[in-house]
Amino acid sequence: MAIDRVDAYLHAHRGDFEEGLKALLRIPSVSAQADHDADTRAAATFVRDDLARIGFADAALIETARHPLVYAERLDAPGGPTVLIYGHYDVQPPEPLDPWLSDPFEPVVRDGNIYARGATDDKGQMFTHLKALEGWLETVGTLPVNVKVLIEGEEEIGGKNLEAFVADRKAKLACDYAVISDTSQFAPGLPAITYGLKGLAYFEVIVRGAKADLHSGMFGGAVANPCNALATILASLKGADGRVLIDGFYDPVRPLEDWERAEFAALPFSEEAFRAKLGVTSLEGEAGYTTLERKWARPTCDVHGLYGGYAGEGPKTVLPARAGAKLSFRLVPDQDPATVSARFRAHVAKACPPGVTYEILEHHGAPAVLVGVDSPGVRAAARAIEAGFGRPPVFMREGGSIPVVGLFKAQLGVDTLLVGWGQDDDNLHGPNEKFSLADFHRGIKASAHLLAELAR
Ligand code: BES
Ligand code: MN
Ligand code: MN
Repeated sequence: MAIDRVDAYLHAHRGDFEEGLKALLRIPSVSAQADHDADTRAAATFVRDDLARIGFADAALIETARHPLVYAERLDAPGGPTVLIYGHYDVQPPEPLDPWLSDPFEPVVRDGNIYARGATDDKGQMFTHLKALEGWLETVGTLPVNVKVLIEGEEEIGGKNLEAFVADRKAKLACDYAVISDTSQFAPGLPAITYGLKGLAYFEVIVRGAKADLHSGMFGGAVANPCNALATILASLKGADGRVLIDGFYDPVRPLEDWERAEFAALPFSEEAFRAKLGVTSLEGEAGYTTLERKWARPTCDVHGLYGGYAGEGPKTVLPARAGAKLSFRLVPDQDPATVSARFRAHVAKACPPGVTYEILEHHGAPAVLVGVDSPGVRAAARAIEAGFGRPPVFMREGGSIPVVGLFKAQLGVDTLLVGWGQDDDNLHGPNEKFSLADFHRGIKASAHLLAELAR
C-alpha cells in the first residue's frame, strides 16, 4: 500500500529530518526584535525552499508590512478534500539567556530531546508536516488530498498581517479542514486532540503622578504614589476566591458541560504531582473548580510584568513619577475581547485612586475557540494519531491561545484539527525549550497518515 512506502521512507530518513530541523532551529527568527528581521526572513526562505525542493513548485514568500508569509499548494486530488496546514516559523525572544544550558540557537540533543528556541513552538511541530509531505512526494509522487500550506512569521507578536491576508484570499484558502500542530499531548505516551483554546485580552496600564521622581521623605504622604496606586488597581481585579471582580466579566462564560467535567476527571492527572513538579506550596485558582478545569476552561487574570520606581541594587528613597503593569485575561467561550476591554476600562476608572492619571494600552486580543469533537476530520485525526503514536488520543482543552483558529472559523468557515506533539514541560517561551525527537518522528508519521485518513 502507498502508506507503507511512505512509512518506510520516513523511517529511513529520520537522521536527515533531524538535520533539517537543526538547520531551521539555527536561524534566530525572533519576530519581536527588529535586529532579527533578516533572520526572520531567512527562516521564511528556508521553509519556502524546503517546500519547493519536495515538490511544491509554486512555494512563495508573500510580503506583508512586517514578516513574510510562506504559501504553497498542491491540488493533487480534484474533487477530493482540501487540507490547510498552518504553522509559524517565528519564535519568542530567548532572553534571559543565563538559565539556558546551551545556546538557544545551536540545537543540541540531550536525553532524546532537542533543545533550542522554537524546538516545540513551533518549528519542530510545524516541520513534521513538511516531512510528512516529503514522504508522500518522494515515494508516491502525489498527495492523497489537496494540500495548502500557510506558515507565518508573526504569531508570537500577535501580528495583524495574517488577518488581512486570510480575509482577502478566502477563495484561495478555501478548505475542508485546517490542521495545526502547535499544542501539547496530555502527557508522555498520551497523545491528544485539543478541542478548545483560550482567548486573550492583553493590556498595559501606565500610572503617572508628579512631573518627576521626588524625595519620598520630603513629599511622601502629601502626593499619590503611582506604584501604590497601581498596586491598588491590580489588587482590585481579583478576590480571595480567585474570581475576577470586574462587573459582568463572567456573564457570557459558557459553563463546562457535564461530559467535559467527567472526561477531565477521568484523565490520569495528580494535583499533588503537578504541584510538586512546579515547585509551588499549593495550587491556587477559582474556587469550585479542579486544576484542569481552571487551566482549560475558566477565564483568568494574570500580571506579566511590573515597572516603576527603583528596583536596582540597594535602597533608594524615591517617590516615583510613573509605574506600569502588563496584564492579560485569558478568555473562554463566549467572552468577547472587545467587551472585556470595555469592562476592564470601566473597572480601572472606578478602582484608580485620586491624585494620579493613567493610560491603558491594548496589545493582543483574540476570542477563545471550541471545535467540534464529533466530525469525520476528528475521527480521521484520531486514527492517524493512533498510527503514529501507538494509541488513540485523549481529548483535551488548552489554556494557550492560537488566534488563527478563530480566524479560520470566521473567515473560511472551517474547524481546525489541533493535533499537537509537544509536552507540557517543553519550556515553550522559557529557557531550555525542548522537543522530544521520538515525538518529532511520531508526529511526522501521524501527519503522513492524516493525509491518507482524510482522503478516505
Ligand atoms: N503555541 C502557542 C500556544 C499554545 C501554547 C497552545 C501552549 C497550547 C499550549 C502559541 O505560539 C502562543 O504562544 N500563543 C500566545 C498567544 C499569542 C497571541 C502571543 C499565547 O498563548 O500566549
Ligand atoms: Mn506556537
Ligand atoms: Mn508561542
